[in-house]
Amino acid sequence: MSGNKSIRYNFHNFIGTNKQVDHTEIVMKEKLATLSFSDGSPSIDFPIFGGTIGPDVIDVRSLYAKTGKFTYDPGFMSTASCRSNITYIDGDEGILLYRGYPIEQLAEKCDFLEVAYLILNGELPNKNQKFEFDDIVTKHTMVHDQMNFFFRGFRRDAHPMAVLCGVVGALSAFYHDSINIHDEKSRDIAAFRLIAKLPTITAMAYKYNMGQPFMYPKNSLSYTENFLYMMFGNPCEEYKVNPVIARAMDRILILHADHEQNASTSTVRLAGSTGANPFACISAGIASLWGPAHGGANEAVLKMLDEIGDVKNIPDFIKRVKEKDGQAMLMGFGHRVYKNYDPRAKLIQKTCHEVLEELDMKDNKLIKLAMALEKIALEDDYFIKRKLYPNVDFYSGIVYKALGIPVSMYTAIFALARTVGWIAQWKELIADPEQKLSRPRQLFTGSKRREYVPFAKRK
Ligand code: ACO
Repeated sequence: MSGNKSIRYNFHNFIGTNKQVDHTEIVMKEKLATLSFSDGSPSIDFPIFGGTIGPDVIDVRSLYAKTGKFTYDPGFMSTASCRSNITYIDGDEGILLYRGYPIEQLAEKCDFLEVAYLILNGELPNKNQKFEFDDIVTKHTMVHDQMNFFFRGFRRDAHPMAVLCGVVGALSAFYHDSINIHDEKSRDIAAFRLIAKLPTITAMAYKYNMGQPFMYPKNSLSYTENFLYMMFGNPCEEYKVNPVIARAMDRILILHADHEQNASTSTVRLAGSTGANPFACISAGIASLWGPAHGGANEAVLKMLDEIGDVKNIPDFIKRVKEKDGQAMLMGFGHRVYKNYDPRAKLIQKTCHEVLEELDMKDNKLIKLAMALEKIALEDDYFIKRKLYPNVDFYSGIVYKALGIPVSMYTAIFALARTVGWIAQWKELIADPEQKLSRPRQLFTGSKRREYVPFAKRK
């Protein structure tokens, strides 16, 4: 706010009928943004708002009413679609904060459900709150037993993300009692159901692919231990969770829990703005996450490493990437927001080394290949000039591979972790009094009006 005199406006968020649940301040700066036109039309002023940190925004909501013109911003390069209290990213500095706390501290000191509580509620839980939260999540982990039959409708080799989109959307058919978005209690129950059941559903998708029986969740285990148990356990023998692996997986879930207004989160918000139920909204988010430019990149990294095959082939591959032959891209590099090292990539690199050490896989060919590729790319002018650094997906796939998780499951695990962020963002949207149906406009470049031509007269 550097020396600007400013006027403070208070906004009150309400959930359901007039219940105040949050209190946020945004700052209207005294200066204005003035838009002028070269054709002599009168210039127009727009207010500027400031958040707590990060760039100010120019409030252009009245632009169309005042000028009859829209803004044009494909890919939302310069557009803030909402205000949010949850996650902050400084892409130039490589900073990621959940509710103000640096990701490095949370990844080091918390478990996933502690971070989930923070993301959802805005504050770290005290001991009792944590106990209660964990208990509620644990007691919602089982899915409706009829879902076992629902799974049978999928082909055995169905991609887990396809299964997740379908099954999570179908939760609205199994849990009718929690789809009333205007009821606060109903929203909370849906949130708990989604967070608790996602590991169960993700593990079921894996077991279904493998042709193994589904494992029921075990209430004596933590959230992440339970997920590993449902993935790797089987009814024939006891499965002991390795604490190093459980900690690594827990950290991966923390690192993926939220990432402000990325494509899948914006999809969830857009679906939510129509009043769609939370299960449908999260299913839409899963579909959006699937793409290789977003959550699907971890899968693509492994495919790329397989294709490169050996350290000696890296220069050739990099050459193809730089020549932009349309086929090769350095997957796991680059980010729309981070123009610096993705802080999550640093943390996951450390986790990756811990896992490989524990599993006695330090000399693993894949990790050597990934490290060599990273080093060469970080020293190459093409990547330096474009500020292309490794992102979170560059290393997560290697950890999953070391754990024996098939490539097709990688994005599904991302979806399981991100569900917490999606729900927090969805709840924030519902409680936001400024929330409106999301409806972008367009610059139309198609045919002008023309008359119908009968078949006989068409060329
Ligand atoms: N490999 C090679 N070149 C790249 C890469 C890459 N991974 N990423 C960007 N570039 C190049 C572009 O070709 C472009 O070059 P140009 O200026 O010569 O035309 C320049 O860098 C800028 O790229 P944009 O596409 O404009 O950047 P944008 O912000 O739109 O893209 C994206 C970001 C989609 C993530 C891109 O970097 C990418 O596709 N990376 C690989 C996929 C990936 O790892 N995605 C995961 C993102 S993290 C997440 O969602 C969890």
